[in-house]
Amino acid sequence: MVFLNGEFIKKNQAHISVMDRGFLFGDGVYEVIPIYNGKIFRLDEHLLRLQTSLDSIKIKNPYSPKKWDSILNKLLKFYNNQEQSIYLQISRGISNKRQHSFSNLTPTVYIESNILLTKTKETLRTGFSAITQPDIRWSRCDIKSTSLLANVMYSQQAKEKNVEEIILYQNTQVTEGATSNVFMIKNNTLYTHPTNVHILSGITRDLVLESAKAYHISIQETSFSIDELNTADELWISSSTREIMPITKVDNKLINNGHIGNVWSRVYDYYQSLKNV
Ligand code: PDD
Repeated sequence: MVFLNGEFIKKNQAHISVMDRGFLFGDGVYEVIPIYNGKIFRLDEHLLRLQTSLDSIKIKNPYSPKKWDSILNKLLKFYNNQEQSIYLQISRGISNKRQHSFSNLTPTVYIESNILLTKTKETLRTGFSAITQPDIRWSRCDIKSTSLLANVMYSQQAKEKNVEEIILYQNTQVTEGATSNVFMIKNNTLYTHPTNVHILSGITRDLVLESAKAYHISIQETSFSIDELNTADELWISSSTREIMPITKVDNKLINNGHIGNVWSRVYDYYQSLKNV
């Protein structure tokens, strides 16, 4: 079952108009929210970011936080799996003519949920590979927009090259991953790009910073270069579907001689402990 514009219906019965601006222009925003033990994880934070995205592109939020909570929990009742990933998208709605500018429309709201397959700590211990690419995206990466053409092409490249992620850089400085945030540990300090228009402010990123604080690890929300990345003691990526993953090889160069690090292990445990709260 899925949710479309106020109704819970079967996925194969969910249809939208070809005049929907989400289809014509990628004119919409979205959220991906993990469900652990049947409970929505960090819902308030996701709803807050959704509101920020909607405000940025001048779409009125169709529901209150309370209503969102109730819709999402109703949808989850149709699923048995304890670990899910909710995909929620709001497009500007249906216009009667294809033109770039817009007037006030009724937003299209679509929500589905899929099984979330998280990796065990044992599986993560092998570490993952990434490659670097120049960041060609626009300068509003803070908006969780459904216009994802660059990210789509990067992810396809990752699939074809058999790597976990593409790490992006602007003028030698690492911004984020194609679908994740990026962190480096160097001399016991955690580095990650500051939240601004060049990255998405990840909900998992906040959680990583929260756990670093809890472990008294010093934090530098400053960008770091590709050269610094190559000499990192540890490198991780984070997202709502991947949690926190260690990267041990970038562009065929080993990070920390190909070993995952101790700090990752602690931060990973911290994340796991929050799932049951
Ligand atoms: N993407 N940066 C980008 C470009 C992303 O696409 C994502 C997540 C993140 C991490 O954000 P969060 O921790 O809130 O998931 C950072 C989701 C999972 C997606 O597009 O499917």
